[in-house]
Amino acid sequence: MSTNETSASASQDPYFQSLFADRIGGADYGKGTAIYKFEKIKRAKRKALEDHPDRQLLDFGIGENDSMAAASIRKVMAAEIDKPENRGYADNGISEFKQAAARFMQRQFGVTLDPETQINHSIGSKPAYAMLPACFINPGDITMMTVPGYPVAGTHTRYYGGEVYQLPLLPENNFLPDLDSVPDDIFRRTKMLVLNYPNSPTGRTAPAEFFEKVVALAKEKQFIVVQDAAHIMLTFDGKPRSFLETPGAMDVGVEIHSMSKGYDMIGWRMGWVCGHPQIVRAYADVKDNSDSGQFIATQKAAAAALDDDAIPAAISAKYRRRLEKLVTVLNDCGFQCEMPGGSYFLYTASPTGTEGGVTFPAAEDATRHLIEEMGIVTVPWDDAGKYLRFSVTYVAADEAAEDALMQETRQRLSDAKFQFQS
Ligand SMILES: Cc1ncc(COP(=O)(O)O)c(C=O)c1O
Repeated sequence: MSTNETSASASQDPYFQSLFADRIGGADYGKGTAIYKFEKIKRAKRKALEDHPDRQLLDFGIGENDSMAAASIRKVMAAEIDKPENRGYADNGISEFKQAAARFMQRQFGVTLDPETQINHSIGSKPAYAMLPACFINPGDITMMTVPGYPVAGTHTRYYGGEVYQLPLLPENNFLPDLDSVPDDIFRRTKMLVLNYPNSPTGRTAPAEFFEKVVALAKEKQFIVVQDAAHIMLTFDGKPRSFLETPGAMDVGVEIHSMSKGYDMIGWRMGWVCGHPQIVRAYADVKDNSDSGQFIATQKAAAAALDDDAIPAAISAKYRRRLEKLVTVLNDCGFQCEMPGGSYFLYTASPTGTEGGVTFPAAEDATRHLIEEMGIVTVPWDDAGKYLRFSVTYVAADEAAEDALMQETRQRLSDAKFQFQS
């Protein structure tokens, strides 16, 4: 950029451009030219549609449930929305929801919680990851997080002057973090370990022994554990397992639950933090200074949902069925994948090229090729190995529509002649 251009662009800046905080880029805020993964996918989708207007996009890229919440939940919402007593601030939440969450934890996992001191709602689980670092992180403190993973707790750790220590999820460790490899000087500065099982995007679950090891380590090295259970009701390799079932877990941490995935309530924004009362209390204090609680009608509808185990059972059965079909198709087309233990994601090694000679140095290159050449949308993960994530949250009205979509996927992928080299 020439000096003239620099001063021209500087002169167009608002007077407050230099006032932006360093954590979001300081005076350079809004001037970056990097294009992020999801924007690249959006652009490639647009190009694919322009180049092939008659070809259906097979969209395995969407990470959101494709159905709206069950009619029974919507009916409660419709009734509650008309009641004047639901109109006001909800602050840290109503007892009715906390009690339903406590009943759910007891029934599903055999975990006993005091609804008043060990459970607090969140407006979706995402803000809870933004708030927990405010409870623990001083400048220089560390949050240990898995990669690939859901980044919000890490972003806020950095906002508070803390650091993130990344724990890669690799096939040789069954996609569990290798906690034995963490140096002691890192443990000394670590305040929080954030886990997520069933894991997004790898779809792996954690065995009881792993959680036991985490509890022992947390006590020994003195950090707290935050376990993200967003996908817990989509567990396929056995009974869903809560971290809080682990002996001693209640002494070291909290688990964060979400109504989004297991109850088709993505946009409703309901979740909760549960576990050690003193951590729940700290979260509730920060929350009380950040928001005024979810609409009470929504909390009541969510409470009714939590009392009906048939709802997550039906959603889980649908995504299991779709994943099983996808695993078969992908394996028939040269991929090497197995049924995930949980979540609606299939995380599988990216092709490295095609028989025709195209090579994919990164999963991102394979994603672009799949979208532009084949009209198949996936999400690349290049953080720990080269992987593609297929989500089975595509829109299909019934099983026949699912089968037709799978047939089309099979056709296009077998025409692709992918190569896979380790
Ligand atoms: C692993 C994981 N955790 C947490 C969330 C946040 O979910 P919500 O804020 O809808 O409860 C998501 C959403 O995509 C997720 O994938």
